[in-house]
Amino acid sequence: MKRIIIAIDGPAASGKSTTAKFLASRLGYIYLDTGAMYRACALRCKQLGLKLEDKTKIIAMMDAMDLQVNQSSDGNIVILHGTDVSAEIRTPEISSLASAISAIPEVRDKMVALQRKLGSEGGVVLDGRDIGTVVFPQAEAKFFLIADVNERAKRRYLELQAKGLDTPFEKVLEELIERDKADAGRAVAPLKPAVDSIPVDTSKLSIAQQVSCLFIHLEKLLSLPVVRLAQHSGYCFGVRRALNLALEARNDEKPVITLGEIIHNPQIVQKLADKGIRVAKEASEIKNSKVIIRSHGIPKWELETLIANQNEIIDATCPYVKRTHETLQKLVAEGYPVIILGDKDHPEVVGMLSYGDSKTQVVSSDDPLPILEGRKTAILAQTTQKLHNLSDLACKLLPDCNELRVFNTICLATSERQNSTVELAKASDLMLVIGGHNSANTRALASLSSAICLTYHIETEAELENLELGGYPRIGLAAGASTPEEMIVEVYNKVLQKSGSTAKVKCSGEIPMFKEESC
Ligand code: DC
Repeated sequence: MKRIIIAIDGPAASGKSTTAKFLASRLGYIYLDTGAMYRACALRCKQLGLKLEDKTKIIAMMDAMDLQVNQSSDGNIVILHGTDVSAEIRTPEISSLASAISAIPEVRDKMVALQRKLGSEGGVVLDGRDIGTVVFPQAEAKFFLIADVNERAKRRYLELQAKGLDTPFEKVLEELIERDKADAGRAVAPLKPAVDSIPVDTSKLSIAQQVSCLFIHLEKLLSLPVVRLAQHSGYCFGVRRALNLALEARNDEKPVITLGEIIHNPQIVQKLADKGIRVAKEASEIKNSKVIIRSHGIPKWELETLIANQNEIIDATCPYVKRTHETLQKLVAEGYPVIILGDKDHPEVVGMLSYGDSKTQVVSSDDPLPILEGRKTAILAQTTQKLHNLSDLACKLLPDCNELRVFNTICLATSERQNSTVELAKASDLMLVIGGHNSANTRALASLSSAICLTYHIETEAELENLELGGYPRIGLAAGASTPEEMIVEVYNKVLQKSGSTAKVKCSGEIPMFKEESC
């Protein structure tokens, strides 16, 4: 895989350094903050008490300057005459001084030569003002970042506040405008976009979006596969809540037990077991313990057994599932025969059914139409059902009813995941749907996706080992509501690795999301 030079230029606080740093880390490239190098020159001038007018002394200072730029996970570490000055060069005073000193041609000559030396091997992301125009006009990728001046001043102001430097916003704005003017107006290597640079306005973009935006432009240049993540993927609120409750419940006083697997993801269940959180199959087995009721909920009678056995109950039932219990109870009390659309063996449906009566029945989308008990009826759905199956059932039953009450109990997270998976599948040549093989909601995503394009339902990245991914220009990733973020990240990194790339992301927010191409 070729290792190119990436130039990112733009005015102060347009997002260059942050974007360059993340991009370099993602691509496994070196990062070079050229502004920090001019800042170091400015600091050296200050240390030696040199006046800007005293060109001869500044040139001598440059000849004798001992400057090193080292790589760290947090960006560049700037070492000036053996001392780490990375923090010291970030004050407003040094910002103005760096802008002024960088206009001196001899200073620039020295710095440009050093920057060319450091970047000559490729596999480097440099940010500055003249990278695409002067330092590396031959750079394979050139970006010019801009942002509204008020937005840039706001970013710089917050940065200074975080460092305990209390400069008024108006002053930050004023200095930024001055610096823009000086950097763009100087005679040598002024700030300006290279003719072949790609402009990116970061005013309204988050850091992840900025990085993704540049990354998307680089995919072609680096011959990376185009991989996109569905907009809604991974843990939903209910699953996150259940896992947090389980982890908080851990203590030494009583055993912590989940009745049934807390979520349908074998790797997470194993991780909890490693932390001492055990799974019990039957309510009757559990006594004097802390019991976590999983997000799918449990039948009414199991709850009664747990209480009778002196257990402390931690109810992690998903609020959407709880709502189905309440709705079902109310309908039964009002005399409605209720049809539950769902999988009769799924724990959520087993739990739900316990709140019904003898007239409550469960049907799946593949079953024949149920026989109605009279001409009034109500329909509820398992929270992870497909919406079109619910509307299909309602349409088919309607001719035989005087009164049909349909409750859309499908949870928002499920519909969001389903809709964004379908949208992505339509724009992909191959879909990888990630999540437990026993996870109903992941299976629903895989089934929706496979009706549109070739789809593999995988639990972990290990299942990619023997799959040929080479022939698919656009690969989509979707993940169920019980799929942890680390699995999405591992799958993405594995897809890139299989294409021969060294690129890697650390969190799912760094994976280009479907639709971000519009930036
Ligand atoms: O990117 P920065 O704010 O850290 O840069 C500080 C100053 O250094 C900037 O105002 C202009 C100068 N500079 C330059 O002239 N050329 C570069 N390639 C980088 C920075």
